[in-house]
Amino acid sequence: MALVTTKEMFKKAYEGGYAIGAFNINDMEIIQGVVNGAKAQKSPVILQVSSSAMKYAGAKYLKHMVDAAVEETGIDIALHLDHGASLAACTEAIDAGFTSVMFDGSHYDYEENVRLTKEVVDYAHSRGVVVEAELGQLAGVEDEVSVEKSVYTNPAQAEDFVKRTGIDSLAIAIGTSHGAFKFTGEAKLRFDILEDIQKRLPGFPIVLHGASAVDPRYVEMCNEFGGSIAGAKGVPTEMLRKASSMAVCKINMDTDLRLAMTATLRKFFAENPKEIDPRKYMGAARSALQALVEEKITAVLGSNNSL
Ligand code: G3H
Ligand code: 13P
Ligand code: ZN
Repeated sequence: MALVTTKEMFKKAYEGGYAIGAFNINDMEIIQGVVNGAKAQKSPVILQVSSSAMKYAGAKYLKHMVDAAVEETGIDIALHLDHGASLAACTEAIDAGFTSVMFDGSHYDYEENVRLTKEVVDYAHSRGVVVEAELGQLAGVEDEVSVEKSVYTNPAQAEDFVKRTGIDSLAIAIGTSHGAFKFTGEAKLRFDILEDIQKRLPGFPIVLHGASAVDPRYVEMCNEFGGSIAGAKGVPTEMLRKASSMAVCKINMDTDLRLAMTATLRKFFAENPKEIDPRKYMGAARSALQALVEEKITAVLGSNNSL
């Protein structure tokens, strides 16, 4: 068993009208919670690493733990670099054994994004690695990019971009954003843009970033046990389900994992003031993540029983 790319996963997902979950990983408990959830639901999964996660845990630790997850679970797992900011960031991940990279040139002007993305594609493809790129801008803060207002993806430009760069999947901006505060008013996604892109690029896998649902259960649990998170709002589950039945083959979630983990830890510490064994509280967090991932796979992604 070895890590796989997203090629086959996306092909089956597109044809089957479902999407693959891409979950951000930082440590062993998150990796185990995510892959155990995917295994229990017989689903492939994408483990993705941001540059700050790479700095936090180290590429070697992450790669070896993910290799162990492949060996232990036997399920299809892709290891993906999330929001690679440069060719150097992408080549570092590829050389470390990642099977997929995102080059995020969405904040460059169009021609520069095409040129830089193409460089990453050339390097990655010659090593059997797949590439995701982004067009349009999501509001919110990413590793090295901060955007105040989202800029929707232009469908005609998306068609041109895919043809000229040779990328394997495209992240688009249709109204989602990173973090726990996605909408001030009513949640709204531009499905008309997604539909137009799907028509222009039939069969081509689309990626949705900023796709956490921000479950009020976990926000309330955080607040009940000493947290202070006000006004959090995510993407409604039915919108995500709709997107995954269309051309969206990869749905990125990080905030939901953070909330579930934080809420569980806060509750655990409040209810077990004498406990000092990290295996007890980290174990509780890992179980909560597994339950969350199973729920995502069945209620949002529809990727259960697809191995
Ligand atoms: O896109 C952003 C992801 O949630 C990763 O966040 O850069 O804080 O690890 P991070
Ligand atoms: P969320 O903040 O909605 O979880 O999005 C995560 C993401 O897009 C990582 O690339
Ligand atoms: Zn993202």
